[in-house]
Amino acid sequence: MTFQWTENLTVGVELMDDQHKELFSRVNAFAESVAQNKESIFVEELIKSLEAYLDTHLTLEETYMKQYDYDEDDTEEHLKQHKTLRTNIERLKSEYLKKGSSKDLNQKIQTHLCNWLITHVSKIDKKLGDYL
Ligand SMILES: [Fe+2]
Repeated sequence: MTFQWTENLTVGVELMDDQHKELFSRVNAFAESVAQNKESIFVEELIKSLEAYLDTHLTLEETYMKQYDYDEDDTEEHLKQHKTLRTNIERLKSEYLKKGSSKDLNQKIQTHLCNWLITHVSKIDKKLGDYL
């Protein structure tokens, strides 16, 4: 099962939207390779590149919030969610490195990454996009 970026996830800031699309495709590539039990070195590279890309993306949004004086409470909530995602990715990565592909890991990718992305982009990022 893959999760696609759809028009209703548009936040109206081109760079953010482009990066969200790329994130969806990287999360899917990771999820698919785990599901298909691909070679571990390949899956490892995917997680690492996902993590690096994610960091670039979250940092961009965090810079926007600071630069454009985003509401303090909204910033706090937004940063909290970013922190959760960073932690989740880190946890999934170490779980993969320790145990390799598994049904359980696959489930977690879907629960943590895909659901997080959809919920976060459609609510929190959209709010930021409206402000910008
Ligand atoms: Fe965000």
